[in-house]
Amino acid sequence: MRSVAVFLASATLAHADEPPDSSRLSHLVHQDCGSCHGLTLKGGLGPDIRPEALSHYDAEILADVVLDGIPGTAMPPWRPSMSEAEARWIAEYLLTGYAP
Ligand code: HEC
Repeated sequence: MRSVAVFLASATLAHADEPPDSSRLSHLVHQDCGSCHGLTLKGGLGPDIRPEALSHYDAEILADVVLDGIPGTAMPPWRPSMSEAEARWIAEYLLTGYAP
């Protein structure tokens, strides 16, 4: 069992030592997150996730929301498709704003 877990971890975190790829992740935020939250992230099916709407979150909790989703809602967990470092990058990106 342990070896399976290690195998899965190394498959998804193959580049864990490298810094998150910011152009890939910002694209993902606007395309994938944007498909629910709106291309400008001001809300759609999902709520507004622009910096002013997230000011009550700190980066750590926000990264957990991204990784685990919000159970019982349409907000999916992203843990299967990104590393914790990538989720942390996205959290900082959402909190500090971005060039549209
Ligand atoms: C399939 C649709 C969908 C996708 C894709 C999606 N979300 Fe969500 N998200 C939602 C919904 C719906 C909610 C509101 C859940 C609720 O009712 O609390 C939400 C809630 C959130 C919240 C909490 C907002 C708040 O004010 O508490 C954050 C942060 C968030 N999403 C970030 C993201 C990020 C980042 C991505 C991309 C990595 C993403 N979402 C992709 C549907 C989606």
